Amino acid sequence: MEMTTTVPFTNLAAMAGEVWPTIETRYLSCLLHAGYIGGQPVEEFEREWAAFCGTSHAVGVGNGTDALELTLTALGIGPGDEVVVPANTFIATAAAVVRAGAVPRFADVSEDTLLMTPGTLCGAITPRTRAVIVVHLFGQMADVPALRTVADAAGIALIEDAAQAHGAQWRGQPAGSFGVAACFSFYPGKNLGAFGDAGAVVTSEPALADRVRALANHGRSRGSAHYEHEFVGTNSRLDTLQAIVLSGKLQRLPEWTRRRGELAARYDHQLGELGIRLTATAPSAHHVYHLYVVRVPERDRVQAELGQLGIQTGVHYPVPCHLQPPLRHYAPDRQLLVSERAAGELLSLPLFPHMTFDQVDQVCEALAEVLATPAAHAGRHR
Ligand SMILES: Cc1ncc(COP(=O)(O)O)c(C=O)c1O
Repeated sequence: MEMTTTVPFTNLAAMAGEVWPTIETRYLSCLLHAGYIGGQPVEEFEREWAAFCGTSHAVGVGNGTDALELTLTALGIGPGDEVVVPANTFIATAAAVVRAGAVPRFADVSEDTLLMTPGTLCGAITPRTRAVIVVHLFGQMADVPALRTVADAAGIALIEDAAQAHGAQWRGQPAGSFGVAACFSFYPGKNLGAFGDAGAVVTSEPALADRVRALANHGRSRGSAHYEHEFVGTNSRLDTLQAIVLSGKLQRLPEWTRRRGELAARYDHQLGELGIRLTATAPSAHHVYHLYVVRVPERDRVQAELGQLGIQTGVHYPVPCHLQPPLRHYAPDRQLLVSERAAGELLSLPLFPHMTFDQVDQVCEALAEVLATPAAHAGRHR
């Protein structure tokens, strides 16, 4: 029997439909005049994005993974160096370290927020450590001021991976403005998502911004001729068409974020009453709810049965980074118990700006039903 989706995990088409009338003319003009690389739309978006993040520079790049790798390389981090990353993150955070030629060292996360803490960072620093990548996972910033104190004491750079935290804040200060640099992804499913892959590095250090820009543009320095290359770089630029989309969507982002917060508050209230374990939000954090993550027993069964009831969910992430096959050898004896335990329990519920309160209620009811009657829905389809 065919399953129907009652509540989708997200609805990217609704966001595209809302923004399209505001960007159509500009988008088609760029398309038909063939101005595909660089130009005014990219410069404009970079200015807007830097202002949004409270930094003086933004460099548009091809995606969030490149943003991380380029930042590490621009900081001179490579072979022989170690970089601390949380075990509970998308693989790209650690993969970027490996791609830059350095070694990832994994730190465990807080039992409550599932984010890196000063204690877990401290335990992962060695004499070879050059930097830490702090990940603001699910839309909530980690306690960067406290992490910064540890990083400063150890003499290492702090980089923010803000791929899931567009517009998040810590005591009113925006994600992206705390580290020596911060890296964003504009993958379509992110809170600010392009019509394809895109990313950015933000920083208030002009020399670092120039270095990232040159590395991302075949090693061409500012003002150099097309075939004048100062060093070997790569090709990872923000497409002009994507910059137009991102500028258009950025206008809508505050409203979309506000709506995410309303939906999350409704989940918090209803799921709290059901006694479901929520991910804690620190009092100083302004959460932007890229993902709404709860912890449930028998997660795989719960997810499968919710699916049979038409509720789409996700798991972020089923395997902690240090146990991923290509990364295991970097952490042969490291047990990161909070991340390992959480990986079996995490469940991301639907949450997107065009979701209705009714849909939140349907998810909560379905979850209550599935949790109350173990295995009752096995084999049931709608
Ligand atoms: C925490 C985190 N870091 C890095 C990335 C990599 O970004 P991208 O997919 O744009 O390469 C992502 C998103 O996919 C992410 O969620």
